[in-house]
This record gives sequence, C-alpha cells and structure tokens, in this order.
Amino acid sequence: VPPPPAPQSAESRPRSLVSIDDLSNDEILELFRHAEEFRADIRAWTSVCRGSIMATLFFEPSTRTRLSFESAMQRLGGGVLTAAEAQATSKAKGETLADTVRVVGGGYADLLVVRHAEDGAARVAARYARVPIVNGGDGAHEHPTQTLCDLYTLWQEKGRLEGLDVALCGDLRFGRTVHSLAYALARFGANVVTLPHAGFEMPASVLDRLERDCGVRAIEARVPGLEQIAEPASVRYLTGSRPHQLALFSRPTPIVIERLDAVYMTRSQQERHDPGVAGVAAYPRLTTEILRAPALQAASVLHPLPRVDEIAYEVDNDPRALYFRQAELGVPMRMALLAFLLGRITLRSAPPARFAADPARSWPEVGLRCANPRCITNGDGRTHLPTEWFVREVEPPRLVCAFCGHSIATPLVGHARTRRVQAFDAPEARRTKPENRVYFESLAQARAAGFEAPESGPPAG
Ligand code: NCD
Repeated sequence: VPPPPAPQSAESRPRSLVSIDDLSNDEILELFRHAEEFRADIRAWTSVCRGSIMATLFFEPSTRTRLSFESAMQRLGGGVLTAAEAQATSKAKGETLADTVRVVGGGYADLLVVRHAEDGAARVAARYARVPIVNGGDGAHEHPTQTLCDLYTLWQEKGRLEGLDVALCGDLRFGRTVHSLAYALARFGANVVTLPHAGFEMPASVLDRLERDCGVRAIEARVPGLEQIAEPASVRYLTGSRPHQLALFSRPTPIVIERLDAVYMTRSQQERHDPGVAGVAAYPRLTTEILRAPALQAASVLHPLPRVDEIAYEVDNDPRALYFRQAELGVPMRMALLAFLLGRITLRSAPPARFAADPARSWPEVGLRCANPRCITNGDGRTHLPTEWFVREVEPPRLVCAFCGHSIATPLVGHARTRRVQAFDAPEARRTKPENRVYFESLAQARAAGFEAPESGPPAG
C-alpha cells in the first residue's frame, strides 16, 4: 500500500477561497470597492496580473463561472490555462484531484479555480496544491465566488446588506449557491426567508452551521402572495437579529413577512438528484403575475443562472430583474479577488479570526466515515484522504466533516492513552481532556479500533 500523499501543512498554505467564510465581512466590502474601481474602466488594468497564470480545472459544466474568471484574468493581463472537461484530463484515467492539483499547481499555474461534482473537493484542492485555490463550486456544498457576485449586486442596488430580507427559492437542498449565500447574508446581519420547492429544503447541516456560527434561528413564516412558489408549510424565516422574543412562545403563529428586499431564484439541480426523484414536477416559477404580490414591490430578482424555466422570460424586462447584471458584475468582482489572492493588491481589513487556526481533528486509525455519500472522502478521496472533523460537544457529541459539513453522532468517547471507551455522559468520559478524546459511533467501531469498554458493563449506545 503506498503511503498517503503528503498534504500541505496549514502554515505553508497560501490563502484560498474554499468557503465564503474564508473572507471576513470587511475584506468582502473592500473587494467590492476594488471591483468598482476595476469596473469603472474595465480595460485599464492589463498590467495588474502580468506574468501570472491562472488555471481553471472544471470537472462539471460551466459558462459564467469559468468564462468570467478567464475574462477577469485576461483583463488583468495574466495568462489562462483551461481544463474545461473532465474527460479531457487524466481524471478520465483515474487520477485523483489531489494529484491533479499538485501537478497543475506545481509550476504550471499560480492559482487554480476548481469546480468538481463532490462536496468538499475545494478543501482537498487547497490541502494539496501549493498555490491559492478558488472554489468554483464543489458539489452541493458551496460556491463562494457566486456569493461574492450576489452580495456585490445587492450591495450596489440596496446600498447595504445589513437588515435586508432575502428570500431563497427553489432547490435549496442541492443548490450550492444558496448555501454560501445564506452564510454570508447571516454574517452581514441580513435575514433569509426560505421558499423551497417541496422536498428540497435547506439541509440540516446548513441550518446547524447557521445556528452555530451566526446565532441564526429558524422561525415559521408566511409571505402573503407567494403561496404559488412555495408550500406555506415549508416557509421559514432565518434570522439572527429580530424576533428572539418569538422563541418564548411555545408555538408561535407564523411570522408574516410583509416586504422582501430580494428574491433569489434557483434552478432544480437535477444532476444531483437521486435517479427517479420527481424533483421538477410543479417546480416554482416566477412570473410577472407573482411579482405583483405586495411583498415583492421593492424586491430585486436575482438568479445565479443558468435559468431553465423558473423565471418567465417576460420578467427580464422588469426593472427589478437583476440576474444579467449579476452575471456581468462577475468579471470585476473576480478581477478583485484574483488580484488579491495573487498578492497584486493588499487588503487593509483583518482576515476572519478562524483563518489563523484550523481546529479540525483527525483520527485516521479509527475508521470514522462521513455519512454523506456525495462527500469527496467517500468518492475521489476514498483511498487516501483521512477524514477530518470539527468536534461539537453537544449531547451526544457530534463530529462535523471538515470537507462537506455533514455531521455524525458519536455517543461513545474513548481515551487515546488508556484505550478505554465509555458512553459520552459517563463520569470517566466527562473527565477526559479534549486532546485525549476519541469519538465513536458504536461499540463495534471502538472495539475494531482496539478500545475496550470497562468491565462494569458496556456503555450505552
Ligand atoms: C450555479 C452553479 O454552478 O452552482 N451556476 C453558476 O455558477 N452561476 C447555479 C446552477 O448551476 O444552478
């Protein structure tokens, strides 16, 4: 068995954009200002990235993301290498992403933009490449540069992000753009109204992260006039700011949203649906008639594109329709990002606090696996990637996959040195120091890893 490939250590890794949380709010606002400057005279910047090369490695279809990155790099005077089809790369021969990015990032290019079908792929790329990685969309996980374009468009149109009420509509389960966007909106103090297509609600992993990192709570809601595009039973108001008091009532009646600042429509992500899923039947569709709802009078209409049929073409002429502007702003926005990640402009703002220390932990010998079948640790990386986890000391403890964000319950806690394992709430387990704690889903798993339950009886779980 060959040894696992050596990943880059956290300290030697350049800054990348894997998750929208890799940029602080102030950095994002500063990037908007640079984008505005680039946009004011888009042809004037051909010496900014002269001498640098960007490679786009796109293992999934793309029009806007890839071409706007390539346009941005060329407008900055840099060179571009394109691998736009998985079938045309060594992936078709079985090469792993880890190997591909080490090769292309090892002298061929100074920055890689990667799109891949598996959740967590961008984190793998950032782990193995020596150059900055930009996540151009990893499975159903995140799409942070689309979020930068979305926020930039909203910021331009509304003059602020804080306090906005933004409805996310359509396939919220597999749409990666809405996941990154929800995190960012919450961080900027905006509120999210979820208007999912039935069965395609926001995943628990996203809601958990919103709650844990942004203090966001989901409250039942109703938007009068939008019953046609989302089943009223599935509408939620996700907010970190407003109605905390509502939680005091045992079963509050749904909060009524009288006015939305934006509706963000998305396509049914059919390529990620399980075969046979009746996903698209009665998929929501935004029409001029629906846009007459009083709640939408001042609502901008956004869409990451491509549109299939979920926004009627007649809406394009409505001044509230911003989706083509969103796509256009992708070029100056990505120019700002590239210039920053390539060190051609510096930002005065502080990076996110968690950027300095990556607290993910790994117990490669224990046999824990991510429960998300689409996670890259169960796919492309299965043979060589050790799983990595963020520990959540809830009851029972949970481990959150550092690649895709899905979590597993680990009700048993072992001690790394004594090799004894207990139920998480046993006194001995509670006394075990964080650095010695080893987590298990089952007793069989603990025993397979060489841990023993104390003789007083097997732990629960
Ligand atoms: C999105 C994507 O790839 O996730 N497209 C894009 O980058 N603008 C949205 C989609 O494909 O539905």
